[in-house]
Parts: sequence; C-alpha cells; structure tokens
Amino acid sequence: MKQLLHALKLTGMLVLPLMSGCSSESKTTGFWEEMQKEAPINTGPQRTGEQVYHYRCEACHGKNTQGAPMPGDQYEWGIRAQKGMDVLMDHSLNGFKQTMPPRGGCLDCSDEELHSALMYMLNQDEIHFLDNTKP
Ligand code: HEC
Repeated sequence: MKQLLHALKLTGMLVLPLMSGCSSESKTTGFWEEMQKEAPINTGPQRTGEQVYHYRCEACHGKNTQGAPMPGDQYEWGIRAQKGMDVLMDHSLNGFKQTMPPRGGCLDCSDEELHSALMYMLNQDEIHFLDNTKP
C-alpha cells in the first residue's frame, strides 16, 4: 500500500508539469516556445539550403502545416513567386501572416542560409527564378 501511494505521488509529480505544458497556446507543438529561446547565429561553416530546409523549414513546409507551401508544389509556389523574390526573402526573414515564423523559426540561421533554404524550396519546382536578392 505504501508503495502504491508512493507510486501515485510520483506519477502526480510527473503528470502535472506535463499537463500545464499542454495548456500553452502554441499552434504547432513546442515550436513557438522554442522560438523564444536565445540562439546564437551560426558562425560555423555555412549550411546549404538543403541542410537548412531539413533542419527547420521541413517541419511545416514538408507537411503543408497550416498551408505552408510544399517544395515541388508548382501551383502554390508559382502564385507566391509572382510577388517577386525580394518579397519572398522579406517574408523568410520577417515572417508572414502569423503562421510563417520570422526566419522560418531558424534563429541561428544567417541571412545567407535562409536565402539558400528559400532557393532550395523554389528549385524543387523546376521553375527557375530570377534571383537578384542574394544577401
Ligand atoms: C511553423 C511552421 C513554418 C516553418 C518552420 C517555416 N514556415 Fe514558411 N510558411 C509557413 C506557412 C504556414 C506559410 C504560408 C502562409 C500563408 O500564406 O498563409 C509559409 C510560407 C512561406 C513562404 C511564402 C511567403 C509568401 O509571401 O507567400 C516562404 C518564402 C517561406 N515560408 C519560407 C520559409 C523558410 C525559408 C523556412 C525555413 C528556414 C520556413 N519557411 C519555415 C510555415 C512555416
């Protein structure tokens, strides 16, 4: 009996903090919380667009989360491409419509790395964009 009580106490201790964690208003699991953390800008070797895409962008863009355009979706990216590369780059850096986070959630990414990630997604469509925005 004593052991059972002890076990219950332990579970209570474990379950309560978990439950309070769930009550936050995050739309994607843990992502917005993670975005609040300080992250030093990457000073190591520059990552490729593909690496940055898999590191951060894929979490939403790989699954069409909240309407995030998927690489290879010519229709979606075609519409967005009409805004022009400088607008798309601006939205990559500063976010767009509250669902696309600033810096695509990659706070430790440099501007160059974000630019490569954007180009990586666009190039999966085999549409070739006039790119005059390289930072
Ligand atoms: C938390 C989810 C999420 C992550 C992570 C994310 N995006 Fe997005 N992104 C979105 C959503 C949702 C949209 C579509 C917003 C809309 O049009 O309503 C979007 C749209 C965009 C657009 C198009 C903006 C426009 O003007 O139409 C670009 C460019 C973009 N994302 C770049 C990136 C890059 C680069 C990364 C990775 C470094 C990234 N995103 C990571 C959710 C995300």
